[in-house]
This record gives sequence, structure tokens and C-alpha cells, in this order.
Amino acid sequence: MTSVVILTGAGVSADSGLATFRDAGGLWEGHHVEDVATPEAWARDPSLVWRFYQMRRAQLGEVEPNAAHHALARLETELVAAGSSFTLISQNVDDLHQRAGSNVIAMHGQLARLRCTVCAAGMHDVEHVEPEQFLACSACGHSPLRPDIVWFGEIPLHMDLIERAILNVEKFVAIGTSGAVYPAAAFLQVARAAGAETWVNSLEEPENLDPRDRFLAGRAVDVIPAQVDRWLAEWIG
Ligand code: OAD
Ligand code: ZN
Repeated sequence: MTSVVILTGAGVSADSGLATFRDAGGLWEGHHVEDVATPEAWARDPSLVWRFYQMRRAQLGEVEPNAAHHALARLETELVAAGSSFTLISQNVDDLHQRAGSNVIAMHGQLARLRCTVCAAGMHDVEHVEPEQFLACSACGHSPLRPDIVWFGEIPLHMDLIERAILNVEKFVAIGTSGAVYPAAAFLQVARAAGAETWVNSLEEPENLDPRDRFLAGRAVDVIPAQVDRWLAEWIG
């Protein structure tokens, strides 16, 4: 009975064809990403922000989960069947973990959902939405629904669930995340302090790497499937 927490970032989806943040130059149609991903931007120019997320949502239809997403889904299935506790936390707003079959805590929200800021009906699933076309809440009529995305300056979702998982963690793995955006960047250190064994997979050593972490250099699609086999052999036997 082991307690495992995995944290993923943009790097796990890079091999599916979605650009990572810090590799994309941080610009979109001449705008700094920070300028279209804030509550202030939404208040000032909702059409611009809507278009940005429409484009990103449209990309989801062109990509598929890769071998790393599938391997993590297999890790979850086999660990849970063996009675272990498993938590997958993702900073990604794509739906590739979900489509691979994982249960995910999407701490930065999800492109595939919209949020009503007025009534308790809350979430609305979206698949195909015409560009430029705002949607109204089916429960209260409020328009526009906003992207269910945690913007710069906002507090990530499900922090209570995440804290509980990390305080009890025995094995912690960070995959494809630069360790530059808080609070997610602190999870590795919190896990270490809780006495967990730690692994980190990414192309380059992230900012928050410590000599106690086992660093697995390389692309997640190349590293994670074989590593999942090793973890299962070690953790379940
Ligand atoms: P970043 O773009 O900051 O970092 C991507 C990380 O993935 C880097 O460390 C790369 O070395 C690594 N990487 C790239 N390709 C890889 C591959 N094929 N296999 C494995 N690793 C690879 O992305 P995040 O850390 O996810 O927030 O960014 C964190 C947050 O910053 C995002 O969630 C977003 C952004 O602001 C919000 O949208 C709220
Ligand atoms: Zn509503």
C-alpha cells in the first residue's frame, strides 16, 4: 500500500503536438500571454480573450493522448487495483489525461469547460463553439460564460484535495513542468519535506530540482512508459 502523487505540466503534452508555455515565446498574435490570461483582460476585452481560448480549444480536436498519458493511466489502474492511493494533478488545461482514462485534478482548469460567474450551476461542458460566439448560462441566462481557466493572479482549483494528497505522499513524480509557476512549483519540495521519494522528468533540469530528486532526462514519451513498468515492479512487486 503506497501513496503516489504525480504532477504533470505542459511537457507531457508536448509530444502530442501542443506547445509548452515557455518554449512558445509567450506571445499570441502579438499579445503577451499574460495579457490575455488575466481577469483584467477578460473585463477589458472579452472578445480577445474568448478568441484566444477558442483557438486553444480547437487544437484539442487535432491532438491525441501520447504514450506518456497512456502509461500514467495504466499506472493508476494497476496501483488502485493493488490497493494503493494514487493522485494525478495536472497544470494542463488540455483534456489528454482524461481521454487516456486518468482521473485528474485539473488545478488550472480545463479548456473543455465554461464557468458561470453568477449562479451556482457552475460548469458547462463545451465541445464545438463557433469562434466569436459567446455562450450564455443555460441555468440563469448570464452571458458570457467565462473559460474555466485559472488566470494569472487567481488561486488554483482544488488546493484542499492537493494539500491532503501531498502531505501523505510516499512517492512523488513531476513530469514536464518547469518548476517556475507557484504554487505547483512548491509541491516537489513539500513532498520531499514529507519524506517522499521524488522523481523528475523533463528535457532540462527544472529550477526547483534538488540533488535528492532522481532526474530522468528526456521526452516523456520515451521515458515514462518504461519507467512506469519499473515503478509497478518496485511498488507492487
Ligand atoms: P512550461 O512551458 O513552463 O515547462 C515545460 C517543461 O516541460 C520544461 O521543463 C521542459 O523542459 C519540459 N518539456 C518540454 N518538452 C518535453 C517532453 N517532450 N517531455 C518531457 N518534458 C518536456 O510548462 P508548465 O510548467 O506546465 O498556467 O507551466 C506551468 C504553468 O505556466 C501552466 O500551467 C500555465 C503557465 O502559466 C496557467 O495556464 C494558469
Ligand atoms: Zn448561471
